Amino acid sequence: MSREFLHLLKTQARPLASKTASAFAPSNIALIKYWGKRDNALNLPLNDSLSISLGTHGSTTQIQISNTPDRYYLNGQAIPPETDFAKRLKQFLDLTRPKPEVGYDIHTTNNIPTAAGLASSASGFAALSLALNTLYQWDLPLEKLSILARLGSGSACRSLWDGFVHWHQGQNADGLDSHGHLLPIHWPEFRIGLHVISDQAKALSSRAAMKLTAQKPQQVRIWQTQVEEDLQDLTQALSSRDFSELGRIAERNALRLHELLEAADIHYSLPETLEARTRVQACRHQGIEVYFTQDAGPNLKLLFLAESTAAVKRHFPDLIVIQPMKE
Ligand code: PMV
Repeated sequence: MSREFLHLLKTQARPLASKTASAFAPSNIALIKYWGKRDNALNLPLNDSLSISLGTHGSTTQIQISNTPDRYYLNGQAIPPETDFAKRLKQFLDLTRPKPEVGYDIHTTNNIPTAAGLASSASGFAALSLALNTLYQWDLPLEKLSILARLGSGSACRSLWDGFVHWHQGQNADGLDSHGHLLPIHWPEFRIGLHVISDQAKALSSRAAMKLTAQKPQQVRIWQTQVEEDLQDLTQALSSRDFSELGRIAERNALRLHELLEAADIHYSLPETLEARTRVQACRHQGIEVYFTQDAGPNLKLLFLAESTAAVKRHFPDLIVIQPMKE
C-alpha cells in the first residue's frame, strides 16, 4: 500500500496562512492507451501508456480550507454530495486530509471548449494534486504528485506536465513506481483536432468498462502484447519525429483497444464515429497526413501537423484545433 506515502503527506501538511491555493493542469490524450488495472484501489495499470498534454486546455482548481463539510463546484455549479463524482472527490481528498474536521471548498473550471466531449477527470485530479501541494507546502516533485493524482484517476498521472508523457506501469505492489515521466521531445508543429460527435456523458465509465473487459482474460492478454509492441514502435517514431509512423501506430492502438472493448460487448462508437473514421482514411488517400485516436466515447481526436491544418479543416469544418506545444 502507499499508506506510508499518504501518512507522510498527512503529517507533513503545513497549511499556508491564507488557507487557499490554486493550480492549473492540462488535459491529455493518450496515443498509447491505458486499459486494464492490476490493482483497482490504487489504479495500477496492466500496461504502460503515452500521452500528449493539451497545453493551455485543462482545469484550474482552487482549494480553500473551511470548517464546514466539503463543498465542490464545477464551472460555477455546485456538485451535489450524493453524486458519484462528489463521492469520488471526497474519497480522494480523504487520502491526505490531515484531520476529519478539516473541510474544503473546491472550485474547478475547465477551459476545454464546452461540448468538446472530453473527460476532464485527468486534468481535474492533476490540478487538485498540484493545489494541495501548494496549500500544504509539501514541496513534492512532479513525479510524486503524479502518484497522488493517479489515485484519483489513472490517466491524471500523465497530466502533471506539458508535452509527451510516458506512464510507466511499475512493478511494486505499493504503486510508488507507477507514475508519469516527461519525454524530452519538443514538437510545436503537432496538432490535435477534437471532432465532437456527442457531448453527452458516456453511459459506461472507463472504470466500469475496465471491469467488464477484465472478464475476458484471453483478449486482455492479446491487448497487452499489442500495446507493448505499439509503445515500442511509437516511442521510436517519436524520437525520429516520424509523424506518419506515429499517426499510424496511434490509430492502430485505438482500434486495438476498441476491438478489446467490442469483445466484451462494449460499443462506444456511434454511426457518425464510423463515418468520421472513414473520412480520415479518405483524407489520407488524398495525401493529407491525418490520423485519429478514440477513447471511451464516440468522439475522435485527430492527429496532424500544422502544415495540414487547412486541408484537414476542409474535411472537418467544425474541428476544434489545439496546439499542444508552444513554438
Ligand atoms: O483514467 P481513466 O480511468 O479515465 O481511464 C482512461 C482511459 C482512456 O482514456 C480510454 C485511455 C487513456 O489512456 O487515457
